[in-house]
Parts: sequence; structure tokens; C-alpha cells
Amino acid sequence: MYSTCYILHLNNILYAMIYVIDGGREGKARLNILGQAMNEYSINALLKAGIKTGLKCLDAGCGGGMMTYEMANLVGAEGYVTALDFDKDIIALNLKELEDLQIHNVNFFQTDIYALKSNEEFDLIFARYLLSHLNNVEEAFQILNKALRPGGIILVEDVQFSAHICTPFSEAFETYVRWYAEVVALRGGDAELGPKLPELFFSGGLKSIEVEIAQPVGLSGPAKQMSLLTLDKIKSALLDSKIADEIEFDKVRLELESITNDEKTLISIPRTFQVWGRKSKK
Ligand SMILES: C[S@@+](CC[C@H](N)C(=O)[O-])C[C@H]1O[C@@H](n2cnc3c(N)ncnc32)[C@H](O)[C@@H]1O
Repeated sequence: MYSTCYILHLNNILYAMIYVIDGGREGKARLNILGQAMNEYSINALLKAGIKTGLKCLDAGCGGGMMTYEMANLVGAEGYVTALDFDKDIIALNLKELEDLQIHNVNFFQTDIYALKSNEEFDLIFARYLLSHLNNVEEAFQILNKALRPGGIILVEDVQFSAHICTPFSEAFETYVRWYAEVVALRGGDAELGPKLPELFFSGGLKSIEVEIAQPVGLSGPAKQMSLLTLDKIKSALLDSKIADEIEFDKVRLELESITNDEKTLISIPRTFQVWGRKSKK
């Protein structure tokens, strides 16, 4: 029989193999900055999709939980948000934070999305920047769809990574965008998933499908910082997979840092597709 320790160790190796962005405390800090750039757009999409007081929601791949708290605020004390992520460190940090904040309509738990066994439980399911990391998007979407009650709403936000903005042109920025797509693809993900999301919704039988695009951009501020932060968090995945060596990485990082600090360079986060729809009533 395997010891718990051995199984946890295996889980961590598996986790490191399939998710390219370092998580834990620093991962949570990076996601907070992403949230500063993106949350207002996600909240807008949630409102258009129909979030309201009293709904039972799921935040799938919640990361640092910034959107979990926003959703909890929107559904109020009569509703609740269950939030899951397979990063055990980030879930432990979220649980500690939840205790400190004394928020009572949120529950964080650690699980792989593929292991979710929920049946028609939620009124609204939200998944931001999760599906593009997965090696079986269709299966994950089916699992989410199964967890949704008939008539419930699902809102997915995900990237078209090649559609970043960086002006003036930077070779280092182009390299960063290419490296990200390559390393995500090596782990089975798809950095170009965004525009393919409506197809996923149609084949899942969703109705009243709506699509919008969000792309925060800046000469300064959180949207501008995200690329450099992401490059740092994919360093080990890039080196492990031999997509880049230390020298190549340092060269690109130096240039990316320089354009991030240059007030005349305009940089965006990845173009983000926001797609929502309703599950048919029985
Ligand atoms: C880019 S982050 C986005 C986090 C959050 N949704 C946000 O927008 O701030 C993707 C998250 O998905 C989680 N994740 C990746 N693959 C997963 C899986 N198979 N099951 C559960 N969570 C997963 C990662 O641990 C990470 O926290």
C-alpha cells in the first residue's frame, strides 16, 4: 500500500508536469495583479450573464480567489461560492485568508477539475484562464456542464495569447509570446483557446450564447506588468522543457524588463474571450 506522503509527492510531480505557471504564494501575488487588471471586465461579464443575489456559484480554477470574493459579494449572504483549484499551496493560503477576512459565503477546496463529481448543483459556473491549461478541454467542459443545474449559466474567460499588444515592436516580447504558447502546448494546453470557446459551448448544447472580448492595456500599471511577471513564473517550465536555456532566458527577460519600465511602450494582457450561455431547462 502507498503512504499518503508518497501519493502527495506523486500528485505534486504530476501537477508540476501539467501546469506551466509556478503557483503558491508568489503565484497568488501574480494572480492578484492580474485581478487588478482584469476583475472589472470579469465582473461586467458576470453581471451581463445574470449573476445576482442568492445564486450558488462555482469558481473553477480559482487561483488566489480574487474573483471568488467578487462573486461572493455579488451573490450576497443568501448565495455562496464554492471555489476549487488543484494547487494545494494556493488553497491553503486562500483558506487562511478566508479566516482572516471572516467571509462566510465562500468555500475553497483542493481538487483537480477532472475529479469534480458534482451533479446539477450550481446556478452559475465561472472559469477564468483555466481551460487553456488543460489537456482535455472537452472533458473538463462536460464536467462543468454536468455540475450546472438546468437553466444555469456558465461563463468562461480565456486567452488568445498571440493577440497581445506591444507597441513599439519588441523582438523579446514576440519571443516571450512564442515561448508561452510552446510550453503550454507541450503540457497539453492551448494558448489560442479563446476564439474556439463558442464552438465548445455549441457542442455542449448551451443556449443564448454571448461573446465579448476584454483586453486591458497600459503605459503603466498592472496590465503592463503582467507579461514580465508571467515570464518569471514560466522560467522553470521553459528551462525544464529546453525551450530556452538560462542565457536566452536572461536576454529576453532583460529586454522585457526594460520595455516594461519604458513609459512610452504600450503593453496589454493577452486578448481574453468572455463567453457565456445557459444550460437548457429539462
Ligand atoms: C491562470 S490561473 C487563473 C486563476 C484564477 N481563475 C484567476 O483568474 O485569477 C489558472 C489556475 O488554474 C489552476 N489549474 C490548472 N489546472 C487545473 C486542474 N486540472 N484542476 C484544477 N485547477 C487547475 C491553477 O492551479 C491556477 O491556479
